[in-house]
Amino acid sequence: MTAIFTPVTPATTDITNVLLAITGGIAAYKSAMLARLLVKEGFNVRVIMTQGAQQFITPLTLQALTGNGVHTELLDTDAELGMGHIELAKWADLMLIAPASANTLARLAMGMADDLLATVCLATAAPVLIAPAMNQQMWAHPAVQLNIQTLTDLGYDIIQPDSGIQACGDIGAGRLPEPEVLCRRVLNFKAKHNTPQCLAGKKVTITAGPTVESIDPVRFLSNHSTGKMGFALARACRDAGAEVTLIAGGKVDLTTPLEVRRVDVMSASDMMQAANQAAEAGCDIFIATAAVADYRTREAAPQKIKKTQDQMTLELVKNPDILATISHSYPDMFVVGFAAETQEVEKYARGKLATKNLDMIACNDVSRADIGFASDANAMTVFFADQYQQSPQTLAKASKDDIAKQLVALVGQLQS
Ligand code: C5P
Repeated sequence: MTAIFTPVTPATTDITNVLLAITGGIAAYKSAMLARLLVKEGFNVRVIMTQGAQQFITPLTLQALTGNGVHTELLDTDAELGMGHIELAKWADLMLIAPASANTLARLAMGMADDLLATVCLATAAPVLIAPAMNQQMWAHPAVQLNIQTLTDLGYDIIQPDSGIQACGDIGAGRLPEPEVLCRRVLNFKAKHNTPQCLAGKKVTITAGPTVESIDPVRFLSNHSTGKMGFALARACRDAGAEVTLIAGGKVDLTTPLEVRRVDVMSASDMMQAANQAAEAGCDIFIATAAVADYRTREAAPQKIKKTQDQMTLELVKNPDILATISHSYPDMFVVGFAAETQEVEKYARGKLATKNLDMIACNDVSRADIGFASDANAMTVFFADQYQQSPQTLAKASKDDIAKQLVALVGQLQS
């Protein structure tokens, strides 16, 4: 098969040029959808296919989906100067190998240059993401795992395969993640690439969403928090280079950000326990966005409460203050609180900054209907502990993602 040559331009500083390499495996059918999604996201996509890949899916399909000729040959007489591998290697801002077969992993681990894909891997300065896919028994083989370790050591970024039913009927790890997930990985990579790595190497724990306090097996006390601000912060911290643990309170119905460790809890007591565990495991920054119920029932009834009385009284006891407990137990940790106030925002914020022993507190005025709880937007005033000698910062109304990025930049500044 002769490759159709389309002239290439050099790599840009942003990630816009994605070189998708497809190897021979049944999961190659997913790569067509992946190419389509990447194009939809605005990437320029070029495709390399190995001989094996072409047994599963045709170059014509990928050519039609990307609008670019597909590259299949190492020795390509159509390429400018006859050095297609060098041109492609220079063009790529990011290379994604999906699916990567066991054979390709072995060749890359050895630094072989016996086909176009392997040669471009050696010749490119672009980051390379590898999404292996194969039979679960093959994936578990020590030789494959050794190659994965070697590739990781060499600086390749491995996207772990999913577990589940495989095309061959086996059940286990080795499935190529769905195209939407791979596309999101590329988008995350781009976001990281374009974000100052102000939290590189930092471990961040974030609490998010409401807590749910049981009254009996079917009823509970809770609130309208959705967890959106906490999840936006988790994405922003991850993009800034942090390793993130996200403790999500009961009923949060949001997609877990990729590469973020999520711990689901229900009650304030569960959240307290999860926060303590995260802190003990090592945490540099603790951000509390959760709307923790101030009170819980003294004891949840073991059976459903019957409506036999005209009136009933629930006895409530105070929940632990998670933020204050963590900040007092770990004085060196950088601790960020949130406050929702309807009046005298600065006075209450400064009070909490002191009593909860915080480094920073972000306050929103919940008397405004256009921001806060279920909204996708927020606006904040941020106050800092006296030691930082920083005047309050107002963050104008923006999406929660934008507000999160600004908050992370402030945390990063104070941390450095
Ligand atoms: O005291 P107040 O609820 O206004 O404080 C808000 C801040 O404290 C938020 O950051 C919230 O996540 C945190 N908080 C907590 N545990 C509680 C109550 C509040 O972590 N029991």
